[in-house]
Amino acid sequence: MARKETIEKQSWKPGNVLSPAPPVLVSCGGTQAWKPNLITIAWAGNICSDPPMLSISVRPERYSHEIIRTMREFVVNVPSAGQARAVDWCGVVSGRNEDKFSGAGLTPAPALKVGPPIVRECPLNIECRVRQSLELGSHTMFVAEVVAVQVSADLIDGKGRLRLEKCGLLAFAHGQYFALGRRIGRFGFSVRKRSRGVRR
Ligand SMILES: Cc1cc2nc3c(=O)[nH]c(=O)nc-3n(C[C@H](O)[C@H](O)[C@H](O)COP(=O)(O)O)c2cc1C
Repeated sequence: MARKETIEKQSWKPGNVLSPAPPVLVSCGGTQAWKPNLITIAWAGNICSDPPMLSISVRPERYSHEIIRTMREFVVNVPSAGQARAVDWCGVVSGRNEDKFSGAGLTPAPALKVGPPIVRECPLNIECRVRQSLELGSHTMFVAEVVAVQVSADLIDGKGRLRLEKCGLLAFAHGQYFALGRRIGRFGFSVRKRSRGVRR
């Protein structure tokens, strides 16, 4: 590792460099007025655990913006790394011109608690109801409560634990997609005693 005094820094212009981000497929619509649509969102994140809440930031010019603003419901579908092509495609074409479900070969399936459909092929589907909309500038942040979650059953192990890593998670950093690599620790591992006899 480089010695601390040799790590040089450069001043970089202020910008959205926080990485990696989770590129998710957000589904919306599914009414007579709006057919089901998908928008790729990288600016998504957990923001509260009780009640469980997340946010997505959407530019007002997106076709999906009007749908989410009006319906106040959406689903965050977490893709696997194998779905990177569909994720990218849903982020470069608009639902104004394309049926993104059929174009990406994805299947809309009923959500448990909200109007928009889930993406059946995505391993994790997080159903959300908008609580607040914040006009921040270039983006509207939709602050939403998680009202239901669906997970693919093959990701739940014998002890009932969700093993999301089995599906191959996808990350987005500085304009590029990455498949997450090997696990290097578990929450709190830095302070836990190593059990004797375990070989490293
Ligand atoms: C990897 C990736 C991440 C993106 N993240 C966002 C985002 O966080 N917010 C946003 O408004 N647009 C984002 N976009 C752009 C929209 O997905 C894109 O403009 C899309 O075509 C809008 O679809 P719509 O017109 O059907 O709503 C992203 C695109 C890609 C490829």
